[in-house]
This record gives sequence, structure tokens and C-alpha cells, in this order.
Amino acid sequence: MRIAICPGSFDPITLGHLDIIRRASLLFDLVIVAVTVNPNKTPSFSVEERVELVRRCTESFSNVQADCCDGLLADYAKEKNACALVKGLRAVTDFEYEFQMALINKQLNPELETVFMTTSSAYMYLSSSAVRQVAGYGGDVSQFVPPQILEDVVSRFSAERSQNNERECKRPTQHD
Ligand code: PNS
Repeated sequence: MRIAICPGSFDPITLGHLDIIRRASLLFDLVIVAVTVNPNKTPSFSVEERVELVRRCTESFSNVQADCCDGLLADYAKEKNACALVKGLRAVTDFEYEFQMALINKQLNPELETVFMTTSSAYMYLSSSAVRQVAGYGGDVSQFVPPQILEDVVSRFSAERSQNNERECKRPTQHD
């Protein structure tokens, strides 16, 4: 059985991610979408929420599972018996960072291959951070995230906006 891992923060999962996951599911027997925990980042969605959002978007794919990974991917891949990490490459700007990670992962787990998949041109510009920014300003993200999670994204960012507005209103006015 050929098992691949699609790793990422998925904060939140976008249509671009889903496209890579779907195409990977056609090449491998099982694809595990590994939602990673990065202690240096404060995500908009908790890791449990991100796994749940990925699960909801991928439930129609019979050979895709969602899980979380809070350690090294090289170790996680060994534990899951995976032969490959699948990464989407959007542009040359992604390449240097991804190339470095692929070499480090190969060093840590020589049996693990990193497979780069070209992002579909429709999603070249798309990233979770762009989604967070547009949603943060109340913009329409329906063309960027899967419909199954649109409501979650909209309500998370409208709640954040109201909290920020409340904070702004409570702040004492500065007089010169
Ligand atoms: O979606 P992102 O944030 O670009 O994904 C980055 C990710 C998850 C691929 C990277 O942070 C990662 O590999 N995290 C797991 C920790 C790890 O194995 N680090 C060593 C790789 S050099």
C-alpha cells in the first residue's frame, strides 16, 4: 500500500490545498492530510478545528484521512509507513524553502520522498494567509475556500472583527 502525507498548517484549508489533496488521492492508495502544529505561530483555528475542517472538505474522497502532527514530519511519516510527502508548488518563490525542507526531511528519513505537484493555474495566487486577510476585512472568500467551511471562516473572522472593534472603542481617546 502506497501512503502519502500532505502536510501543512491549513489555517484554513483552501481550494488550492484541496486541489492538491484530490490529485494526490489519484496517485496514492492512501493520503493522510497532516495538520501541523507550529509553536511559533498563533493560528486563527486550533489544530482540532483545522483537522475537523479538513475532514469535512475531504469526506467525499474515500482514500483521504485527516490527522494532526505535532512533531517532525520525518518521524510522523515513519510512524504512518508513508513513502512520500506531497507538496504543492505555486511559484519559484516557494521553491527554495521547499527544496531545503525536502533535503532536510530526506536526511532525517532517507526512505521518504518529497513529491512536488504544480498548483493548478487557477490557484497560483491563493494562500491561507491571503484568505485570512480578505476574511479579516469582511471580504468575500467564497471563491477561495471549499463551500463546506465557508460559514466557519466567515463567522470566525467576523467574531474577531467585532472583538477588535470593541477593543478600539474601549481604548481611551488620546488628546494632544
Ligand atoms: O502550510 P505551511 O505552514 O507552509 O506548512 C509548513 C510545514 C507544515 C510543511 C512545515 O512547517 C513542517 O514541515 N512542519 C513540521 C515540522 C518539521 O518536520 N520540520 C522540519 C522540516 S525542515
